[in-house]
Amino acid sequence: MKSEIGLIGLGVMGTSLARNIARNAYSISLYNRYVKGSEEGIAHKKIDQYKELSSAKGFEDLSAFVNSVQQPRKILLMLTAGAAVDQLISELEPLLDSGDLIIDAGNSHYSDTERRIELLAKKKIFLLGLGVSGGEEGALKGPSLMLGGSTQAYGLVKDLLNKIAAKKSDEQPTAAYVGNGGSGHFVKIVHNGIEYAEMQLIAEFFQIMHQAMGMTYDQIAVVFEQWNQSDQKSYLLEITLSILRTKDEQGYVIDRILDKGAHNGTGSWSLIAATELGQAASMMSSALFSRYTSSQKRCRTKLSALYESKNQRIELTLDDLMATYRFARLINHHQGFSLIHVASKEHRWDINLAIVCGIWMEGCIIKSDLLYQLYPILKSHQLPLSDASIVKQIHMDRPHVEKLLSSLIPSDVPSLCISNAFEFLKQMVQEQSPAHLIQAQRDYFGAHGFQFKGDLTGDLYHYNWKN
Ligand code: 6PG
Repeated sequence: MKSEIGLIGLGVMGTSLARNIARNAYSISLYNRYVKGSEEGIAHKKIDQYKELSSAKGFEDLSAFVNSVQQPRKILLMLTAGAAVDQLISELEPLLDSGDLIIDAGNSHYSDTERRIELLAKKKIFLLGLGVSGGEEGALKGPSLMLGGSTQAYGLVKDLLNKIAAKKSDEQPTAAYVGNGGSGHFVKIVHNGIEYAEMQLIAEFFQIMHQAMGMTYDQIAVVFEQWNQSDQKSYLLEITLSILRTKDEQGYVIDRILDKGAHNGTGSWSLIAATELGQAASMMSSALFSRYTSSQKRCRTKLSALYESKNQRIELTLDDLMATYRFARLINHHQGFSLIHVASKEHRWDINLAIVCGIWMEGCIIKSDLLYQLYPILKSHQLPLSDASIVKQIHMDRPHVEKLLSSLIPSDVPSLCISNAFEFLKQMVQEQSPAHLIQAQRDYFGAHGFQFKGDLTGDLYHYNWKN
């Protein structure tokens, strides 16, 4: 009997997805490359290790693996994004037949996905770009699945994806078709941009409470726990409070971790996409840049000895902290959904933002109750900041944000992401920006031209400034 699906790449995520698929009663073939000394007999080792994989078939020979899968073949790749995916596709392509389907479930760049879709279409082989979020545990127990590509190909795997995905409170799966081309991978990139800012926000509040307010890790964990029992409940808060409570014989584990934020690239891709589309994704940028600054440890250490430190205590209430956190998260999600909205128009992906919001409600790293709150707003085709209930919320939270940010100014505790949330709001709600002056400057030194107010032609004019 041939398998219903094949899976290539048995790293942490690939193994978890394979187990999830097998648990859902699909027959599966597994392939992992053979690398002498480091990757030998991997598929069989996994089959021996996990009981749900006991009836899976394991391969190190790609041709035998392909032949073991029912036609039209469905082959899921879980590989490191980039050259490894191109290499594997080039090996796989001659072995596949017209109508077969490759599902790239790695964190591929959406433009690579679009290129590969076109390439394989010449042989009538389908490729779907599948954004997968949820880490190792999500992949095993139910991830978020963001699918992009042809609807015909989606039909071949829809049931399987729905079965392995996490389930929302209404029992619907967190898996959906988001649009054609590379849209699934694009949505995953933006998910990661939002993830970066969500993580940075929690880190900034942690530092404010610890360094500026003198709170212990246990006290901070209690605050995060309270937030996690409120409408701010999220997976990232949940893991953070667990991290803050993790101690061993040497003390708090977090105290032994080097403070250099690493990254695998998707956060910077979200920002590159934002700049290409002219979108002010300032929360993602401040989160990413904060990781970059943190990684300059040697330089920071040297400079910290040259500058006088200002470690005075600040007084903030729990309401100030929570209202500011809620405020900043709203701005972050607004920016993320706006980015997808603009990209969808530009690339003609026709992405429904409410569907994306639904996929992110459970299973993924940014899952949170806020997504349940934003769903009806996005469903009514509005972006979060335009909605009356959000406007009211922002008005209520704003005095707390102002108090928190102004009390941090004389201290050494940075708040790049929180400050950016506030600055973004101020810029977005001003009817008159100072950009008329920018336009005049550009025209003065470079004759770049500007539009006159009220002129609907869109024509550019040059003014003879120097006369
Ligand atoms: C997910 C995550 C995952 C990502 C890691 C690491 O949704 O499961 O986004 O895909 O690879 O979070 O990302 P960085 O190494 O860039 O922090």
